[in-house]
Amino acid sequence: MCGIVGYIGEEQAAPLLLQGLEKLEYRGYDSAGVAVYNGERLDVAKAKGRLKVLNNLLDGGKKMQGTIGIGHTRWATHGKPSDINSHPQTSVSGKFAVVHNGIIENYRALKDHLIRRGVNFTSETDTEVVAQLLEYYYRGDVLDALIKVLQRVEGSYALGVICEDHPDELYAVRKDSPLIIGIGNGENFIASDVPAILSKTREIYRLADNEIAKITRMAVTVYDLDKEIVSKEPVHIDWDVSAAEKGGYEHFMAKEIMEQPKAVRDTISPRILGGRIVLDDITLTPEQLKGLRRIEIVACGSAYHVGVVAKYILEKMTKIPVEVDVASEFRYRTPIIDDKVLVLVVSQSGETADTLAALREAKRLGARVLSIVNVVGSSIAAESDDVIYTWAGPEIAVATTKAYSTQLAVVYLLAVYMAQALGTISDQEYTDYIAQLEALPDKIETILQHKENIQYFASKYFNAKDIFFIGRNLDYAMSLEGSLKLKEISYIHSEAYAAGELKHGTISLIEDGTLVVALATQKHLFDKMMSNVREVKARGAVVLGLTTDDCTEIEKETDFTFKIPQACDIMLPSLAVVPLQLFAYYVASMKGCDIDKPRNLAKSVTVE
Ligand code: G6P
Repeated sequence: MCGIVGYIGEEQAAPLLLQGLEKLEYRGYDSAGVAVYNGERLDVAKAKGRLKVLNNLLDGGKKMQGTIGIGHTRWATHGKPSDINSHPQTSVSGKFAVVHNGIIENYRALKDHLIRRGVNFTSETDTEVVAQLLEYYYRGDVLDALIKVLQRVEGSYALGVICEDHPDELYAVRKDSPLIIGIGNGENFIASDVPAILSKTREIYRLADNEIAKITRMAVTVYDLDKEIVSKEPVHIDWDVSAAEKGGYEHFMAKEIMEQPKAVRDTISPRILGGRIVLDDITLTPEQLKGLRRIEIVACGSAYHVGVVAKYILEKMTKIPVEVDVASEFRYRTPIIDDKVLVLVVSQSGETADTLAALREAKRLGARVLSIVNVVGSSIAAESDDVIYTWAGPEIAVATTKAYSTQLAVVYLLAVYMAQALGTISDQEYTDYIAQLEALPDKIETILQHKENIQYFASKYFNAKDIFFIGRNLDYAMSLEGSLKLKEISYIHSEAYAAGELKHGTISLIEDGTLVVALATQKHLFDKMMSNVREVKARGAVVLGLTTDDCTEIEKETDFTFKIPQACDIMLPSLAVVPLQLFAYYVASMKGCDIDKPRNLAKSVTVE
């Protein structure tokens, strides 16, 4: 999500910045901009749309003179994609220009504080707060001002900063968002990722959290927040350029699987404030919630699978009946909808044709529509009464992973929020659920640290012809996604079945050596699941059991086991999905499939 580049040296900065941004295009963005010191002041150019719009505007950079500058590709989170919301963002007098990746979580409070002191804001972005605060605190020393700003801002950030009073200094700082410094000869660079500078230098410093770099043409000095100098070891990069564009991963899908802890954290953290869930994004009142007769979920593909999970969770938590439908079916089954029905629409792209049509049908029938969407400003977001954005960042691989995980995270936020508003959970349960939510990203990280176990298992079964996924309740919902993931990218025939239903027909397909993935994370159904495992084993199946790490019984029943950290029942799907994604990925990788662009599939399906 978003790309940063910065340059200080003797060459013209603008063409170099544009070339660097081009190398970061894979990250996804919807607008771009650069700021260059032109000898008198900071010159800023920004444009909504693809980088070529900005490139044309600046004639490849020739229209901007100056040897220090910063550039950015923005993927909108706070405020729609527009020229004004693009970065660099500047302070009120234009003295400071800032590029930013990440989210300033407390930007509203900081913005209000500055507005009360007469500062005028021009954009809707969280980033502008940083530029304005810099000027507010500036007394002649940029480093001092930056340290003060960092003491006030909360959230994640990689920042590049220039100031017209100090045209021979470029500043960079990071926390929870990557930023590197490229070391050149008589010139230096900053970038959010290596590809942006790889054609210029392979020697870099990786900034650690809360390290601030003051960069001149000839030197890089890194400080901590106490203004003490930190000594840094340069790192040599020997990646080839195309590998680096995937952040060093062989496929975008692998990269996106690994990004899940961050994506889930970015989606959850800003919405938990002072121990409470704050969904500023929705206007649905507690009174309207209490008046709901039903919740109807519509979506397609993996987003539909999120809906299946959501049905179990929302019914359990809110006691409101929930139905879930694939969007293309919903439209043509004369659904019974009125203003007492909340229609929950789930979509990564926000552009899926059937989902959009279902939304319109629901609105026509009088329903209130709440959507969970990843792409800011997309059609589904624009046409919904309320939107809760997932902050997964751009997802490039066709098979969704991190967007799915962030959609689940929003479902949990919503379920706990609604249950609290409806009084269907106690205050203690509310507090406990919030603690469980906050712990999810680290638990996902723990699973990813054991990915080699899944890789080993995949190496044994990548030649399978048929694979079955079984589970009960929420584990059944996860089976659906595990099976879809596998067939999407590995082309292995696969089916997901409610474990108790298997014996009513599909068990006839089980024969010697058939692989069955048995999900058994739900404790209250564990014994029942083991009965189903015995049924398939009795017919020759090889079984991979998936359960939580406190379970000591499963090994007695299954051939292989993978364990996930414990969590409350409703949040286990967020953990169970990760090994299933990894399994699909490794199987497809061993089969040599075109993982990021599987045959016949599209990332965003805009036809019915
Ligand atoms: C396509 C994608 C799926 C996705 C589905 C719904 O089929 O390949 O990964 O789940 O569309 O997309 P949406 O953007 O609405 O979530």
